[in-house]
Amino acid sequence: MCVAGVLGTGSALPDKVITNQDLEKLVETSDQWITDRTGIKERRQAAPHETTSTLSILASRKALEKAGIQAKDLDLIICSTISPDMPLPSTAALVQSGLGASGCCAFDLAAACSGFLFGMTVAEQFIRNGTAKYVLVIGAELLSRYLDYKDRTTCVIFGDGVAAAVFGPVAPPSGILAHELHTEGHYADHLFIPAGGTALPASSYTVEQGAHYIKMRGNELFKVAVRSMEDVSRQVLEKAGLQVADLDLFIPHQANQRITEAIRERLGMCSEKVYSNISHVGNTSSASIPICLDECAQSGRLKRGDLVLMSAFGAGVTWGAVLMRW
Ligand code: UT7
Repeated sequence: MCVAGVLGTGSALPDKVITNQDLEKLVETSDQWITDRTGIKERRQAAPHETTSTLSILASRKALEKAGIQAKDLDLIICSTISPDMPLPSTAALVQSGLGASGCCAFDLAAACSGFLFGMTVAEQFIRNGTAKYVLVIGAELLSRYLDYKDRTTCVIFGDGVAAAVFGPVAPPSGILAHELHTEGHYADHLFIPAGGTALPASSYTVEQGAHYIKMRGNELFKVAVRSMEDVSRQVLEKAGLQVADLDLFIPHQANQRITEAIRERLGMCSEKVYSNISHVGNTSSASIPICLDECAQSGRLKRGDLVLMSAFGAGVTWGAVLMRW
């Protein structure tokens, strides 16, 4: 049996920065409110010519280069996204073609903000059982395309961004040690896009109603997010026979700085071990954890042998955690 780990990471953020002051001009909000209630100061917004797949290709090329792997050597591409280029084909197919990874299996995965951890877990299974050697997992979101810039409860939170990681066999003690994933569809209407699917196909009526935009019951989700991310973090540690005190780094999904703080307190961790980039990236859904991972890898914040815990929560609702030795 192979142990799967990260061989290389890469990310791609659009150049355009949307500050809290920019949003003050669009909706009734303030820099003070957004900073205090979310920790966000700015987020990125894709240019009209950029798509989920074009940014994914950029991030993936960087990850492949870091890993020292050629695109043609990939056995599987998993693109975690809830903001695909189009309903079909999959964004993963477009990325595969752009990378020149002809013929390998490629599919999209929809688990919202937990999607990268769902993708990592699938990659780990494929590598561990020998079905695949090299797997590219991408977390890619252009949520600005689904945001109503008249809805202050969503447009201040979400941002655009993409990051990717190449997974492959690694030598112990490095590698993925434990994972745990959950879904509870009972909360489906807490974070959703009503129109554009089979339930409410796109029409001039749905556009008129703004039903193609993200709708969120943020306050209710907040409580479920804190509880689930704490629980699932403890579950993976227990599976691996490790303790919170053993962790070198905790990368939570960057949903809201107050959610991160609440989980940190509940886990009893010091701030130095909890990574946060929400102030300058915002909530990028499934791209959130891999962007953090890439920042930590490039800056040297992550060192070989470090024990890193990642946990996420998102629409569905979905939640999960992965424990990995770097
Ligand atoms: O990514 C994973 C899934 N998503 C999440 O986990 C999101 C979790 N939720 C959140 O991050 C927070 O709930 C939000 C940031 C979305 C909202 O913060 P909150 O502290 O839960 O605010 P709230 O919805 O309880 O609203 C408090 C007040 C309300 O005014 P009243 O009724 O007290 O007068 C809102 O109308 O804040 C008002 N408000 C705003 N005011 C200024 C809501 N959004 C804004 C805004 N600017 N952008």
